[in-house]
Formats: sequence, structure tokens, C-alpha cells
Amino acid sequence: MSDPRSDVVVRRITGGEFLAWSRALDNGFLRTSGDAVHERRSATADPERTLGAFDGPRCVATCRSFPLEVTVPGGRTLPASGITNVSTTATHRRRGLLTRMMAAELGATVERGEPLAVLIAAEYAIYGRYGFGHATTSVTFEVDLPRAALPGWAPPADGRIDLVDADEVLAHGPGVLDRFRRTRPGAISRSRHRWETELGRHRISGESWQEPLYALYRDASGRPDGVLAYTCDDVWEAKLPQVTLTVRDLIAATPQAEVALWRYAMSVDWVRRVVADYRPPDDILPLLLGEPRAARATTSADFMWLRLLDLPRALASRTYAGRGALVLEVHDPAGHAAGRFLLDAGPDGATCTPTTCGADLTLDVGALGSLYLGEESASRLAVVGRVAEDRPGAAERADALFRTARRPWCQDIF
Ligand SMILES: CC(C)(COP(=O)(O)OP(=O)(O)OC[C@H]1O[C@@H](n2cnc3c(N)ncnc32)[C@H](O)[C@@H]1OP(=O)(O)O)[C@@H](O)C(=O)NCCC(=O)NCCS
Repeated sequence: MSDPRSDVVVRRITGGEFLAWSRALDNGFLRTSGDAVHERRSATADPERTLGAFDGPRCVATCRSFPLEVTVPGGRTLPASGITNVSTTATHRRRGLLTRMMAAELGATVERGEPLAVLIAAEYAIYGRYGFGHATTSVTFEVDLPRAALPGWAPPADGRIDLVDADEVLAHGPGVLDRFRRTRPGAISRSRHRWETELGRHRISGESWQEPLYALYRDASGRPDGVLAYTCDDVWEAKLPQVTLTVRDLIAATPQAEVALWRYAMSVDWVRRVVADYRPPDDILPLLLGEPRAARATTSADFMWLRLLDLPRALASRTYAGRGALVLEVHDPAGHAAGRFLLDAGPDGATCTPTTCGADLTLDVGALGSLYLGEESASRLAVVGRVAEDRPGAAERADALFRTARRPWCQDIF
């Protein structure tokens, strides 16, 4: 991983280098942290999956990954490398350090047998060059409740909602999330440590933290099917409540739980505005309002980016909206997913094998990463030249196969 053109060496860090690495990460992210933050980071990072770039003893760039599962259309999950903590210190930018770290990280991902790599991009322009495609979108909704024409509050007819404490969320939330995530392409696993962090268990004294309120939805049999975490401010004007309720987490394993928890969040007394971040672009939220325009999508942006590495395995692991065959000519300058592949797809599964047949579509691996979970349309990419039709109508045929009933959604930032 050393480069003859540079004195800077890119390599895995050793345990003793973690503090220097963590400080370099802070530099790249334009912040400074106390020792407690560095210690917390070191508790979660796996040195085997942590890369640093070293200019002599000084760490000047960082990147690490962790194992997670990504749900693909049809409900199967695939192991993936979740790449995070990517930074290059300002003094060492634009000298190819990220490019070298990415080559090392993607090579290691292939060696580990993980067919995908995923990340959340700080800026849109960074990761396309490494074969990543924008694979899910995240939306912030703001609901102006007085204009929402909501029905009056009534408890759910076929279940119940209780306010619970963090221990109960920790007891039931992971099960709810594991059932939910199999219903949604793009959803990712959440580690126990992540749950505990969300619940404020790894707080450092002095860090700002507002304990959320937690609502648990149970169906008529008592099964926990949905979790809502929310915080409220305490704004009043001229003795009138103007409270904003912020949804921190709303995870539901059934449609009944999803509807009931949204209705609950939007009907709490004193609340005039509901804000929900990191939501899917096709969230049912506006449909629950008499006036859907009262739910404004104030931000809509790319969220998870996906890099196909073991392309035959990835394409054969999902299901497709229809039955059909497609020959894909895939360009990948890094070589991992390059080739011509025959995808024989159907609603129950697919095979994907190298072929010498003539191509239907030619595209870069990043464009295929955008199609893979159902986020993009091949027809749309064809208009802007990111997909080339080698046979007329092939983009539409691809869309008929790749489209999904619900938009892909990655529920967690990482
Ligand atoms: C993004 C970042 C890691 C890039 O590191 P770097 O070592 O400067 O990247 P490289 O020198 O390997 O750049 C490779 C290419 O990407 C381009 N690039 C890098 N960062 C870019 C950005 N933010 N926007 C647009 N292009 C970018 C470079 O211009 C270069 O292009 P070229 O190959 O055409 O010359 C660094 O700028 C950084 O730390 N930014 C702040 C923190 C951050 O955003 N981290 C990413 C979190 S997801």
C-alpha cells in the first residue's frame, strides 16, 4: 500500500496508533474532541478494518469499515462493508490519499468475501469515481399540523401504544427492526452498540443529550411491532403551545404499526409541528393527512451509496418485478465487477453468469449500483447517457425487472 510517488504510506493501523488516527479524523471533519470521544471511537473500531495514511509518524488520512447487512429486493440480506470515518487532513488533500485508501478498502472487502460496500457520502461528487452509485434517497419532512386536516385522535383499533423506557426499547426494538428491515430494500442491520448509543447509553459527561420519549406499538396479540422515539421542545407564544415534536426513530414491522405510530406522533397535545429526518422518499406520512401538502419535504438528497463487488452474487440474490433476460456489459476501471453478464431474472430469484452473448445495455458499475436496489431508472439514466442501449427498448425492459414496490430506504446514518 505504499506509493513510490509519495512518502505517505497507507496501511492498517496498529492498536497503539488509534489516538493519532482518531485525532486525524477530527482534523478532517473540522472538529476537536476530548479523550473520552477518542476512547469511545476506539472501542467500536476494528484495527483489522481501520486504515490510516502516515506521513512519517503523523496520521494524515483515515478510513474504516464495519460489517453490516443490506436488504435487497425480495427480502434477502447480503453482507456488506460499511465504510465510514473517511477523511484526509487539509494539508494533505488532493494528493490521491483517498484514492489509495479506497483501493485498499475495496480490495480488502473482496478478500473478505463481502459482495457489496456501502457508505453515506458527505458530498455527492466524491465516490462515483470509485464505482459507487447513489442507491437510496433520504427526505426530511416537516408537518404543519394546524394545516394537516388530521382526523381526531383515537387509539389504534387493532393494537395498543404504550410509552415505555429505554430498557423496553432495548428489549423489543432489535426484534422489530430485524423484521422491518426484511421488508425494505436498502435497510441495514443495527448493532447492539448502535442501539445503546441511540438510547443514550454511551454518553460522555458534558455532551448535550435530550432523553427521547419512546412509544411501543403492540398488535392485538401483544407482539411488539413498532417503535417510535421522539423529542419535544418547549416553545410557547402568548400562552399558546407551539411545540415541535422531532421523530428520532420510527421503525415498524407492519403497516398497522406504521400508521398507528405516525397518527400518534401527529396528535400529541401541544404539538404544532412534526419534524422527521432520514425518512424514505415514499414515506406514507403525507397520505395520512387530509391535506398532504402540509407535509413538506424540506430536504431530499442522496443518502446511501452502493458499490457492487461480487456482481453475479449480488444480482442473483435479489428478486425481480417480472420475468426476463438481459445481457449487461459492465465497465469497472478497478476490475472488480467488470464483464458481460447474462441476468436471467424472475419474481422468485435469478441467475447471473458471464456470457459472450451480445449486450442489451452497457453501463458503469456505479450506474448499476444505482439500479440495484430500485432507486434509479435505466430509462432515466439512458437519457443522460449513463446507460447505453445496445438493443432498442433494453432500458425499459431493465426497468420492468429492477423496479421495486417501495423505494429503497436506508434508515440509519453511519
Ligand atoms: C473527501 C476527502 C476525503 C478527499 O480526500 P483526498 O485525499 O483529497 O482525495 P484524493 O486526492 O484521493 O482525490 C481523488 C479525486 O477525488 C476528487 N475529490 C476529492 N474530494 C472531493 C470533493 N469533496 N469534491 C469533489 N471532488 C473531490 C479529487 O479532486 C480527485 O479528483 P481527480 O482524481 O480527478 O484528480 C477530503 O477532501 C476530506 O477529508 N474532506 C472532508 C471530510 C469528508 O468530506 N470526508 C468524506 C466523508 S463521507
